[in-house]
Amino acid sequence: MDQYIIKGGNPLVGEVEIAGAKNAALAILAAAIMTDDTVLIENLPDVRDINVLLEAIAEIGAKVDRINRSTVRINGSTIQDISVDYEYIKKIRASYYLLGALLGKYKKAEVPLPGGCNIGSRPIDQHLKGFRALGAKVDIINGAIVAKADQLHGSHIFLDMVSVGATINIMMAASMAPGRTIIENAAREPHVVDVANLLNCMGANIKGAGTDVIRIKGVEKLHGTEYSIIPDQIEAGTFMFAAAATRGDIMVKNVIPKHLEATTAKLEEIGCEVEEFDDAVRVVASKRLRRTHVKTLPYPGYPTDMQPQIAVTLALAQGTSIVTESIFENRFKYADELARMGANIKVEGNTAIIDGVEKLSGARVSAPDLRAGAALVIAGLAAEGITIVDDIVYIQRGYENFEHKLRSLGAEIERVSSEKEIQKFKLRVG
Ligand code: EPZ
Repeated sequence: MDQYIIKGGNPLVGEVEIAGAKNAALAILAAAIMTDDTVLIENLPDVRDINVLLEAIAEIGAKVDRINRSTVRINGSTIQDISVDYEYIKKIRASYYLLGALLGKYKKAEVPLPGGCNIGSRPIDQHLKGFRALGAKVDIINGAIVAKADQLHGSHIFLDMVSVGATINIMMAASMAPGRTIIENAAREPHVVDVANLLNCMGANIKGAGTDVIRIKGVEKLHGTEYSIIPDQIEAGTFMFAAAATRGDIMVKNVIPKHLEATTAKLEEIGCEVEEFDDAVRVVASKRLRRTHVKTLPYPGYPTDMQPQIAVTLALAQGTSIVTESIFENRFKYADELARMGANIKVEGNTAIIDGVEKLSGARVSAPDLRAGAALVIAGLAAEGITIVDDIVYIQRGYENFEHKLRSLGAEIERVSSEKEIQKFKLRVG
């Protein structure tokens, strides 16, 4: 299994280009099959989850033509199968977006129930509640969700909690459900807006995306379009915290600063200088950072996908910080790994209490999930000595060319897969 080996201590300095947003792209690829015309999608991140979902879309019979790493042409006119294979849902939960897309277009869909994952049980009851409200019969048969409807119809749906996935999945199905649908308590994430914008470019009639009330007027057909994915605010924030934790100076390019406001506010609160440009942000951390309290919330609150990254940064800050995770029930699995690097972190329920230390020391750690894995890399970059991160396949699910981008900022990091390569790295860096 591949690992990252890191020699910490270098402040990260320079410029980095942010790729397209993984969590927008996954839903947009699913939505693209809702027309029999061709949809051209640009600014795709070249990450494992995207490549797996493209395989799932090809598997059900759609034409998938990968023009290059970041561009794909999809045509859903040749779809033969409305049932998605278990191997895809096992690899990426977001294959469940094909439920809303297939149900909206074909009035039937079959997708295996996604399991939980490393950050929590992650039920999809709100997705199913929305499909039923739109007139679909939804059953769980042999571990698969089987949804079908003679005809879908508009509905007034109140989500019991803010759910990005449920908002997007219901929005897709409702876009082709005759009548008017209102989704109350909708998620407001930028990627929800991106999916709504794509659907509207395909001829849908969706208003209010980005607010907590989305209004949809169902249309009979959708048509082809060309669309470019928004930049990934989570990848951007990850590099912003890499600058903060290593006392660096990074210009993060190709971002939408508005999408980063909660992250920027916290970085400034702990003592970073953040300068905003039209499509870039510059983060400078010249001195030891200060403690803070942070609680994860649905957008525009502080993002849960940035929770491990701020925690590892606060591990080196002056004072005691409190990090509260209000979205997922099990998103502190990295805490024990971080403690092995010398951090003083204590998890009580959904709260981590972090007493900042002067320094972290390199150790062998294991990535428990995507964002925690990236955060442990940040910890290794800030630590003294050598850190080896195992199970980096999690990180490759959501970060394009992660080690290359970090190396371009002066990081001593390599992807290795043998003891020999580890020794070679150690010899080289001394
Ligand atoms: C999306 O997951 C993202 N994944 C997650 O990013 C992100 O952490 C999350 O939104 C919150 O922003 C993708 O977009 C592919 P939710 P999603 O539905 O849609 C509960 C990453 O690192 N819930 O907003 O699954 C759920 O258990 C990943 O890129 C229900 O109870 O998140 C959670 O506690 C990790 N029933 C809360 O709501 C439901 O039917 C929010 O989940 C749906 C959700």
